[in-house]
Amino acid sequence: MIETIRFRDVSKIYSLKSGDVTALDHVSLSIEEGEFIAIMDSSGSGKSTLLNMMGCLDTPTYGEVFINGQNIGELSDDDLTILRRRHLVSSSSSSFLFRFSRQSRTSDSHSSLMAAQMSAQIGA
Ligand SMILES: Nc1ncnc2c1ncn2[C@@H]1O[C@H](COP(=O)(O)OP(=O)(O)OP(=O)(O)O)[C@@H](O)[C@H]1O
Ligand SMILES: [Mg+2]
Repeated sequence: MIETIRFRDVSKIYSLKSGDVTALDHVSLSIEEGEFIAIMDSSGSGKSTLLNMMGCLDTPTYGEVFINGQNIGELSDDDLTILRRRHLVSSSSSSFLFRFSRQSRTSDSHSSLMAAQMSAQIGA
């Protein structure tokens, strides 16, 4: 199987006047081509923070996030936008659908063969 999304020892810390908030604490995971996953946990556990990084909307404070082999922490805002356009088929506040292809980006037939899908449901 081909690994399409990988978190390596990822932490996200928000620095507030009142002190630091650790939204993600040393998270490692990997999602392979064709996998469908749901993320469920209590409010404030970091689900949205995790999803924002998968959707290239945010970058980690520590650790590395790889989308299709690219370390998003090393990409410019423009490169992140290109990555989103290339791989993110649809997104909402609670889910993302990705598509990855080893073949030509313009070929729908090849792309559909390499479809990867991820959806995460966020608590009510
Ligand atoms: N922009 C931010 N600035 C400061 N703290 C934040 C920010 N975003 C999230 N947090 C904090 O990070 C932690 C994780 O928040 P997050 O929104 O990722 O949780 P969640 O699991 O999506 O919660 P919910 O189920 O309520 O949507 C919480 O303590 C939250 O208050
Ligand atoms: Mg949330």
